[in-house]
Amino acid sequence: MAPRPAAAVFVVAAVVVLLPPPAAAAAPPVGVNWGTMMSHPIHPSAVVEMLRANGVDRVKLFDADPWTVSALAGSGVQAMLAAPNDQLASLARDPRRARDWVRQNVTANINAGVDVRYVAVGNEPFLKSYNGSFINITFPALKNMQRAIDEAGFGQHIKVVVPLNADIYSSPENKPVPSAGTFRKDINTLMVDIVNYLHANDAPFVVNIYPFLSLYQNPNFPLNFSFFDGATKPVYDQGMVYTNVFDANFDTLVWSLRKAGVPDMRIIVGEVGWPSDGDKNANTKYAQRFYNGFLKKMTKNVGTPLRPGRMEVYLFALIDENQKSVLPGRFERHWGLFTYDGKPKFSMDLSGNGKGSVAEVKGVQYLPPQWCVFNKDTKDKYKDLPASVNYACSNADCTPLGYGSSCNGLSHDGNISYAFNIYFQTMDQDVRACSFGGLAKITTTNASQGGCLFPVQITSASVTVVPLIFLPMLVSVITLL
Ligand SMILES: *[C@@H]1O[C@H](CO)[C@@H](O)[C@H](O)[C@H]1NC(C)=O
Ligand SMILES: *[C@@H]1O[C@H](CO)[C@@H](O)[C@H](O)[C@H]1NC(C)=O
Ligand SMILES: *[C@@H]1O[C@H](CO)[C@@H](O)[C@H](O)[C@H]1NC(C)=O
Ligand SMILES: *[C@@H]1O[C@H](CO)[C@@H](O)[C@H](O)[C@H]1NC(C)=O
Ligand SMILES: *[C@@H]1O[C@H](CO)[C@@H](O)[C@H](O)[C@H]1NC(C)=O
Ligand SMILES: *[C@@H]1O[C@H](CO)[C@@H](O)[C@H](O)[C@H]1NC(C)=O
Repeated sequence: MAPRPAAAVFVVAAVVVLLPPPAAAAAPPVGVNWGTMMSHPIHPSAVVEMLRANGVDRVKLFDADPWTVSALAGSGVQAMLAAPNDQLASLARDPRRARDWVRQNVTANINAGVDVRYVAVGNEPFLKSYNGSFINITFPALKNMQRAIDEAGFGQHIKVVVPLNADIYSSPENKPVPSAGTFRKDINTLMVDIVNYLHANDAPFVVNIYPFLSLYQNPNFPLNFSFFDGATKPVYDQGMVYTNVFDANFDTLVWSLRKAGVPDMRIIVGEVGWPSDGDKNANTKYAQRFYNGFLKKMTKNVGTPLRPGRMEVYLFALIDENQKSVLPGRFERHWGLFTYDGKPKFSMDLSGNGKGSVAEVKGVQYLPPQWCVFNKDTKDKYKDLPASVNYACSNADCTPLGYGSSCNGLSHDGNISYAFNIYFQTMDQDVRACSFGGLAKITTTNASQGGCLFPVQITSASVTVVPLIFLPMLVSVITLL
C-alpha cells in the first residue's frame, strides 16, 4: 500500500477532533427518572454532578419543580418535564393554562439554559386503578399543550408526549403472544386518536414496562423470563423468538400500534427498572441481575425482535423515595439505583464503557451517628407499644420490615427498634421523636443487624419543610405485637 499523503492525515485528524470523545460515542442512550418524593432530598446540583460523572445524559421528571429543573441549566443533561395528572383538567379546559404552563416551565427554562426535549402531559393517566378519571381530559390537554408549544416556536425541538403504563395494551389470555396485542377495549378508540395525533406531530409513544410487576402480579410467572440471561423457555410468535418479557411486552405495543394505523411510530421506554426491597422478589440480587442484562442489551443496541437497533430508555428510578404511596406495593419506595444518601446500590455499567463502577453523589452530609431503639427497661409501659409502633410507622417508612424484605428477619424487639429509629431519623433526630413515653432511648451503638440497615438520615437540602404525607394504609404493614 502506498503511504498516505500528509494532507489526508490532517483531514482525518481534524474530523476526529470534531467528534465527541470515544467514551461518549459508545455510551448507550440511557436516561433516568428523577422523582423527588422523599423526606430528605439531596441538593439537586450534587445530583446533576453525579449524573454527569456517570455519563447519564437525560432525565425524566414528574413535574417542573424549579428547584430541580434549575439545577439542570447549563449541564448538558436533556430533560423531560411534566404536567402532573392533577393539572390535566385545567389544561384540557383552558388553552390559556397551557400557554401559561409553557411560558413559565418551558420558555423560561430554555432561556435559563435548560435543555428541554419533551413535555409529558400527565403520568400513566389511563392506569386501570384510576377508574377512568382522566379518560376524557387527557387528549384535550395534550392538544392544548401541543398548540402552546407550537405557538411558542418549539414544535420542532420539543415533543409533547403522554407516558402510559403497559396496562393499556395486552394480548388475550388464550393467545398470549405479541402479535395478538391490541389496545385495551375500553380505550381503544381514544388510543387510536391519540397515537395518530402524536404521530402527526412526530412525537414518540412513551411506555412504562415493568417485568418485575409481571412477576409480582402473577405467582405462576416464570421468574427467569423477567431477566435477560435467556435461562428460560422462549415464546415463538410469527417467526420471532422471545426470551424475555421485556421484549415480548414491547413488541405487543408495536403490534398494537400497527393495528392502530401507525406501524412506524417511534417508541421510548419511559420507565423500566427493578426495586431492591419491599417484596420477596425485590432485592439487590435480582435488581442487579436485571440491570446487568438490561444495560448490556442497551450497550449492544440489539433492540427487540420487531424493532432491532437503538432504543431510548429511562431507568426507574434515580434515588429511593421514602414518601411514595405504597398502594401498589411496599417495593414502591425502593426503585432507586441509588440509596437515600446517594450511593449506588450495586455495580452496574451505566455509561456503557464496560466498567461497573458508578460514581456516588458527592458532599452528602449525615446527621450524627446515633440511633433510637426500644428501651426494654420500661416493662410497665408495654401496653402502649402497639400504638407507638403504629404511630412511628405511619409517619416514617417501615417497608423494609415487610414479608420477604431486608428487615423481615428481625426479632420482635428488633421490629420495635426499627420503627422507633426510622421515625427518629425522619424527624431529623429531634430528641422528642425518641421518647414514645419512655419506651425508646437514643444510643450511639450502630443498631443495624445483619442485612437490615438502621439508617442514619442525611441533612435535607430542601429549603422548605417537606410535609409528611404517609398513607394510613401503612399502619397495616405493622401487624406485630
Ligand atoms: C409549571 O409546572 C408546574 C408542575 O410542576 C405547575 O405546578 C405550575 O403550575 C406550572 N406553571 C404554570 C404557570 O402553569
Ligand atoms: C377506584 O375504584 C375502587 C373500587 O371502587 C376504589 O377503591 C378506588 O379508590 C378508586 N380509585 C380512584 C383513583 O378513584
Ligand atoms: C367521559 O365522557 C363520557 C361521554 O361523554 C361520559 O359518559 C363519562 O361519564 C365521562 N367520564 C368521566 C370520568 O367523566
Ligand atoms: C433460572 O436461571 C438460573 C440462572 O441462570 C438457573 O440457574 C435456573 O436453573 C433457571 N431456572 C429455571 C426454572 O429455568
Ligand atoms: C451501621 O452498620 C451498617 C451495617 O454494618 C453499615 O452499613 C452502616 O454504614 C453503619 N452506619 C454507620 C453510621 O456507621
Ligand atoms: C416484625 O414485623 C413484621 C412486619 O409487621 C412481621 O411480619 C414479623 O412477624 C415481625 N416479627 C416478629 C418476631 O414479631
